[in-house]
Amino acid sequence: AKRFRTHLEAAQDVPLNPAILPLDWLLGSWESDEPGEGSFPTIKPFRYTEMLHFSHVGQPVINFMFNAYHSETKKPLHRECGFIRIQPGTNRVAFIIAQNSGLVEIEEGELSGQQMSLQSCALARTSFAKEPHVRQIFRVFQLRADGKLEQVVSMATDDQPLTQHLNITYRRC
Ligand code: HEM
Repeated sequence: AKRFRTHLEAAQDVPLNPAILPLDWLLGSWESDEPGEGSFPTIKPFRYTEMLHFSHVGQPVINFMFNAYHSETKKPLHRECGFIRIQPGTNRVAFIIAQNSGLVEIEEGELSGQQMSLQSCALARTSFAKEPHVRQIFRVFQLRADGKLEQVVSMATDDQPLTQHLNITYRRC
């Protein structure tokens, strides 16, 4: 009981739920080691920095926050937060995500070693979300042999087929 005195303490003291052991390589904080590259056929290419936080409170769930910033002005830009679950006894993973743009999504995919490939299987947005709307999202997270974490995101919109939007690597901090 002592372990659960406060929410903040729980994050540090509670033992990892064995269900999320296959994802323990994600836990902690990550910061882009060099600016990430953003692109899409309809926009001007851009660079950004990003901080990722993955934590747990003893549940069979990982909690995450991704905060992206303009690489020069440091102005906050894109933000996402949510949860990661694993289907017990399988390598099936699900991301449950809310984005500051007004998009919410569920992505599902497979965990293979220290790599996850995910695909959106449900997308919803505020009625007044900016157009064009996202139709599909693919992303890959990979912990590379050099200890860096890589994220690549592709998306399809109302008017563009599946094309890469983001490519970034992070180091632990
Ligand atoms: C543009 C979606 C993550 C920065 C866009 C557009 C969409 C989109 C639909 C408009 C494309 C068009 O006009 O044809 C997403 C989704 C993301 C994501 C679904 C996550 C899964 C990010 C991140 C950044 C970012 C992490 C980092 C800063 C931008 C910028 C633009 C853009 C700068 C162009 C200007 C603008 O439309 O605001 N994104 N994005 N996006 N995105 Fe993302």
